[in-house]
Amino acid sequence: MGCSLQIPASVHVGINSIEKLTEVICHTVATKVALFTDKGVREAGLCNRAIEILSEQNVAYEIFDSVIAEPSFHDIEHIIKQVSDTNVDLILAIGGGSVMDTAKLASVLLGSTYTILDLIDDASLAKKMVRTIMVPTTCGTGSEATCNAIISIPEESSKKGIVNISLIPDEVILDVQMIEKLPKSILAATGVDALAHCVECFTGKKANILSDAYAKVGASLIFSNLVKAYTNPDDLEAKLSLMVGAYFGGIAITGSGTTAVHGLSYPLGGKYHIPHGVSNAILFAPVMNFNRKSCQPQLAQLFDTVNPCMPNLDEDTKSRYLVDQITEIVRATEIPVSLKKFGIDKTDLDFLVKAGFQQQRLLANNPKLMSENDIQMIYESVL
Ligand SMILES: NC(=O)c1ccc[n+]([C@@H]2O[C@H](COP(=O)([O-])OP(=O)(O)OC[C@H]3O[C@@H](n4cnc5c(N)ncnc54)[C@H](O)[C@@H]3O)[C@@H](O)[C@H]2O)c1
Ligand SMILES: [Zn+2]
Repeated sequence: MGCSLQIPASVHVGINSIEKLTEVICHTVATKVALFTDKGVREAGLCNRAIEILSEQNVAYEIFDSVIAEPSFHDIEHIIKQVSDTNVDLILAIGGGSVMDTAKLASVLLGSTYTILDLIDDASLAKKMVRTIMVPTTCGTGSEATCNAIISIPEESSKKGIVNISLIPDEVILDVQMIEKLPKSILAATGVDALAHCVECFTGKKANILSDAYAKVGASLIFSNLVKAYTNPDDLEAKLSLMVGAYFGGIAITGSGTTAVHGLSYPLGGKYHIPHGVSNAILFAPVMNFNRKSCQPQLAQLFDTVNPCMPNLDEDTKSRYLVDQITEIVRATEIPVSLKKFGIDKTDLDFLVKAGFQQQRLLANNPKLMSENDIQMIYESVL
């Protein structure tokens, strides 16, 4: 049946590429811009140059900086109510996945007849109402490329993805200066999240020739640069590679999709508020070990891309070494790997297993069928 892949219309990459905003604004003919961000990003000064450019171009703007990390659909409703009176015709998002997902949902909700609850029930209703420009400040979720927006659902103690191609951003600016001073722990967690996107998309059942191209290059960039960027925060070349790897991971998500790492991670974020990248990092190697035999050729191909000087090993060994490399990256970036640290113990297992098993959208893409017993074993292994 073939495959297709939708991606943002343009992407600008480099040191100081925020300057491209001038050109983008000129082409888009905007009269009023909504700038979405959060307090942490704004206080880090990361919106300053964009605001200057909007003023230089005589474009009216309003700043919405009350985005909440890992927002619930109530948080999104609240912020969209504030924006809806302002008649904006362009959305600019400067921030991590939380900011970008909020802005993407605003882009399909402002002026629409459906609500966010309607979209949770039926994401196919979404239509792009306002054009979007994304400037990620983590490295990262890849939300600047994906057709997804992830929201938490407090009533279900879990998270859910709203998936529709109209959520794909129009323009993307990957400026490495945005992550120059990113706190190390956020760099680590978001970098491992991006690596998980690439590896899950490459090994998932929906993987195809188009998503594979992005997933493979993205994985290679992140495997080679994450520990470098973590141990030497001044290495802007490594950081730029991470940003591009994360962007490619986002495109791979649109073309393929994540699997059980993300599926089992959602209840950890939804109920226990473990940051998205950290919960994925905890589950990454255990889930890949469980999946290994069912996606051995793909893991071996990734191993060859990352380690081109070791071609003579057999597939089984290569796939084991690749999972070992994942474990090593999580260790080297000092991400906690036990759920105990987050106050989770055996008494939480029943909830986790039920909630994890409900993530059938992602489990269906997992290369190996996962039963409730398998899910229990995986959570137990990280307690
Ligand atoms: N849409 C998608 O395809 C997709 C994919 C993966 C994850 N997500 C979602 O993205 C969210 C997580 O996003 P995230 O991991 O990028 O983190 P985030 O956006 O939640 O930000 C985390 C914290 O980092 C701070 N921060 C961000 N950039 C900074 C910088 N450069 N300097 C200083 N502080 C900075 C923020 O202020 C915030 O306090 C979750 O809700 C997750 O579910 C979405
Ligand atoms: Zn993710």
